[in-house]
Amino acid sequence: MRELDETSVTAEVLRRYADGTDPRLKFVMTALVRHLHDFAREVSLTEAEWFAAVEFLTRTGQMCSNVRQEFILLSDTLGLSTLVDSINNPWVEGTTRSTVLGPFFVQDAPVMENGADIDGGTGKGEPLYVEALVTDVSGKPIPGATVDIWHSDHDGFYDVQIGAGDELARRGRFTTDAQGKVTFWTTMPASYPVPHDGPVGQLLELSGRHPWRPAHVHFTIAAPNFRRLVTHVFVEGDPYLDSDAVFGVKDSLIKEYESHPPGRAPDGKIMDRPWRSLAYTFGLRPAESAASQAA
Ligand code: BEZ
Ligand code: FE
Repeated sequence: MRELDETSVTAEVLRRYADGTDPRLKFVMTALVRHLHDFAREVSLTEAEWFAAVEFLTRTGQMCSNVRQEFILLSDTLGLSTLVDSINNPWVEGTTRSTVLGPFFVQDAPVMENGADIDGGTGKGEPLYVEALVTDVSGKPIPGATVDIWHSDHDGFYDVQIGAGDELARRGRFTTDAQGKVTFWTTMPASYPVPHDGPVGQLLELSGRHPWRPAHVHFTIAAPNFRRLVTHVFVEGDPYLDSDAVFGVKDSLIKEYESHPPGRAPDGKIMDRPWRSLAYTFGLRPAESAASQAA
């Protein structure tokens, strides 16, 4: 067939992918071609729109660097990251729901002792005391779990966005104690906009969407024989909980960060100003394979 038209071109492209030797690649590529062609037909894609999309994707690639991943941001703001997370991490009774990792995770964050203050000593922002309990699906504590945490400052910036990006703060790697607990001091996170000075930000603006995420603390938790959990705990009452730019909010991940007057904190520390506290229990599911345990 040498006169391919609006419909016959799809069958011919599918035919060319039919002989691939990798069955998964063949399955994915043929589904992609079918959906992509159906999409172009459904919207009657114009040549100008096709070229604008090519330019958009080019600019998205050009925006990427070792500290900026505009394609993941595009996936996040399209809800694709949340969809892939949901497909691959179906919820199981007794476990904590997962959500997107985001771009500000740092491998090999500083190792911290329980009770440490990870704020970096700026003295700004409301003090926050966090107590995280890690359990299995039956509620039994898991000692020795590795808990990575990171969050924004009181102005909504992550350490890696400030200055040269080599001064880490408000992040750390803890290990649960014999009671399955991790405790630390930090300061309250704030809501913040996802990076929006690039093509993804322009698309959000043209679409009448804001770039904001509700305030949260990130947690990833890994333990031998359990599946790695990637999640956040959102601050109850945040104005962006219903319109998170990256679709990461789940009701069970929203928690009150309790307000306290000056006085004695749970670890015995005497606070001379108001402070907040967060207590959250994280349930891990058993690992099915070694790959799902990777930290
Ligand atoms: C974050 O929560 O750190 C994040 C997630 C997705 C896009 C940008 C930031
Ligand atoms: Fe975040």
